[in-house]
Amino acid sequence: MSKRAVTMEKLVNLCKRRGIVFPASDIYGGLGSTWDYGPLGAELKRNVKEAWWRAMVTTRRDVVGLDSAILQHPRTWEASGHLQNFTDPLVDCKSCKQRFRADQIQGDRCPECGGELTEARNFNLMFKTFMGPVEDSASTVYLRPETAQGIFLNFANIVDTQRVRLPFGVAQVGKSFRNEITPGNFIFRTREFEQMEMEFFVKPDPAEEERWFDYWVNERFEWYVRFGMKREHLRLRPHARDELSHYSRGTTDVEFQYPFGWGELEGIARRGSFDLDQHSKVSGRDLSYFDEEAKARYRPWVIEPAAGVDRTMLAFLLDAYDEDVLEGEERIVLRLDARLSPVKAAVFPLLRKGGQPEKAHAVEDMLRRHFLIAYDQAGSIGRRYRRQDEVGTPFGVTIDHQTMADDTVTLRDRDTTEQVRLPITGLVAELTERIGWSR
Ligand code: GAP
Repeated sequence: MSKRAVTMEKLVNLCKRRGIVFPASDIYGGLGSTWDYGPLGAELKRNVKEAWWRAMVTTRRDVVGLDSAILQHPRTWEASGHLQNFTDPLVDCKSCKQRFRADQIQGDRCPECGGELTEARNFNLMFKTFMGPVEDSASTVYLRPETAQGIFLNFANIVDTQRVRLPFGVAQVGKSFRNEITPGNFIFRTREFEQMEMEFFVKPDPAEEERWFDYWVNERFEWYVRFGMKREHLRLRPHARDELSHYSRGTTDVEFQYPFGWGELEGIARRGSFDLDQHSKVSGRDLSYFDEEAKARYRPWVIEPAAGVDRTMLAFLLDAYDEDVLEGEERIVLRLDARLSPVKAAVFPLLRKGGQPEKAHAVEDMLRRHFLIAYDQAGSIGRRYRRQDEVGTPFGVTIDHQTMADDTVTLRDRDTTEQVRLPITGLVAELTERIGWSR
């Protein structure tokens, strides 16, 4: 077992108390496993997505981005196999009417009341709705259960307009929906969630597939470490044959050790040419690629690193959560990587007089042109530091008596609590250097 100070309960409470994550529809008593990201959670989530986008798109010559529609033509899901295969086996209790996933219960009686269970039947996880005013089968559309299909639907558009050459990737971040039977564990499994997915197209050659699969497994694992997850809380787990998704010819998960056990963070799958083959067949469109060098036409194979934003955020929060004692007082501190921290620095006037608040606001405004900044003048300076430590703000800038004389401030580091004095004119460069948005 891990010796972490954090528990799910402590994290959920901190998230609610500090405006990171709220239970959704709270004033109406909540809506099963839905969560709202508060002001600080919205920032953290943006930063997680930004970190992924920088690593997967901005800094790479071989990946382009996409933002496709959530509603796709219904034939998409017929071609992708989701209509037939994206199901969980479900049983109902004849006595208490509760529903369970057949593969998650032991024995043949209801785990709640011991009642008799129905035969297992397949339950499709896609959310259905109607397009336009008529509610019939011809107008049925689905909310996407993965962002990936939007990429396959745009394969020809991208090849035709972007001058891309194999191997190349198309990345996308966005909401996906699954009518999960057993959501839970806070934001780990929900019915509405966000994914960060990239389809990396390679030559249809086993050696090429192997090389890029290994490359992406390693690249993705190291990304989590680079942004602050502890190596010992991460592991790779290849899927057994019988748990592979219908489109996959081999998947390895990056797993994280949550307080409730090891669970998936991301799956890296070999999808082969399954999706392009299927969409070619069902749409009748040519989704092949012309290889100029080989003078050959073929449908490329795909390596897909597919991560969840919400789960990634949960894992970063869990590994950042710490408790320690500072000057005789207990504090909670989120040791988030500065690039992920919702607020980058907080500005504090030491006193609420002598022109210090005005000066502090001027420094705040200067810094806000570059970073999200907090301002706090309430309570003792120690309490104000601790309020920021609790939400992971990496730096504190204090305006004091000396500032009024020589335009210098103190800069405090959240983790070491060390303070240095520097001129206001050097603050932006110093913070940029310390936050360091490099990969
Ligand atoms: N396109 C491949 C795909 O969707 P997946 O393993 O089903 O693969 C990828 O999903 C990632 O999306 C998961 O590793 C997980 O992080 C996230 N995810 C999937 N279902 C989720 C859910 N119900 N709630 C939160 N995140 C989810």
